[in-house]
Amino acid sequence: MEVTLDDFKNAHRGIEPSALREFFVEIPKISWEDVGGLEDVKQSLKEAVEWPLSQPEVFKRMGIHAPRGILLYGPPGTGKTLLAKAVAHESKANFISIKGPEVLSKWVGESEKAVRELFKKARQVAPTIVFLDEIDSIAPRRGTFEGSHVTESVVNQLLTSIDGLESMEGVVVIGATNRPDIIDPGLLRPGRFDRLLLIPAPDSVSRLEIFKIHTKDMPLAKDVSLDEIAEKTVGFSGADIDALCREAAMTALRDDINVKEVRKSHFDRALAEARGSLTDDVIKYYKKVKDDMGSSIAKKDKKERDIQYM
Ligand SMILES: Nc1ncnc2c1ncn2[C@@H]1O[C@H](COP(=O)(O)OP(=O)(O)OP(=O)(O)O)[C@@H](O)[C@H]1O
Ligand SMILES: [Mg+2]
Repeated sequence: MEVTLDDFKNAHRGIEPSALREFFVEIPKISWEDVGGLEDVKQSLKEAVEWPLSQPEVFKRMGIHAPRGILLYGPPGTGKTLLAKAVAHESKANFISIKGPEVLSKWVGESEKAVRELFKKARQVAPTIVFLDEIDSIAPRRGTFEGSHVTESVVNQLLTSIDGLESMEGVVVIGATNRPDIIDPGLLRPGRFDRLLLIPAPDSVSRLEIFKIHTKDMPLAKDVSLDEIAEKTVGFSGADIDALCREAAMTALRDDINVKEVRKSHFDRALAEARGSLTDDVIKYYKKVKDDMGSSIAKKDKKERDIQYM
């Protein structure tokens, strides 16, 4: 077993090296260019994450706090995970990603400690983005599941850890979820996840951008009009578009393994089999969640929140 300098330092701090090694630290390779559409969201993330991490001094100069936590919510496959990685890349920040269900399963009986160590590690390698993916499974409303002391103590530890972050420490927490309505409201108070960003279903303009990204390396025949396909694919998420492009290329290959181009007919056949996952009901659900969250959270501490929002 290799002993790193980190381990040595940690031994002196009383941190078990084995626990720390479980967190995979990286600077992701995904950049803004890999994320189609979502221009408003990208701008918000630049302000709320990139600026505070890359130039914390400007916030100090202006006498304002940068947000500690940002919650990305929205339907599956719309680019939440992609965005979190891209903002880490653009901020040249380390990225530690933890999936909610892992916290409870991988660290059975130790999840509270794991959360503590996660934040310790984040500080050590700052600037860092701590990405809590599928956060609804770690932090459902306390008391949701009767007798669930595990989740309750994990949520409490998470709150304590986020509260303990100093603004100049270079650690920002990004959470992602499909179910913002079941998250513990304690997490959404000012000073915690106080910026909520809906990652919406892509409109036709965004879909076109996403199609361009996913056909970037594809030899497209002249008869393929991405504009036209983007118009047709109402209800498709980024993930659906990715899958559709792959299916069109596979259709071409199935016809002829020596094929040189992907043609309109291949896309048409792939489209005939495909369906977007973002139905009207799904869209309505997120619209309602957005309205509800806006009124229940923002009103209460409006003054304080305005400052936090920058
Ligand atoms: N805006 C986008 N631009 C380009 N590709 C996208 C976009 N959104 C989604 N995709 C494609 O879909 C895949 C899944 O996206 P991602 O994992 O970011 O979705 P998500 O919102 O995190 O979904 P979930 O809620 O299921 O975790 C990406 O790897 C990418 O190929
Ligand atoms: Mg995701």
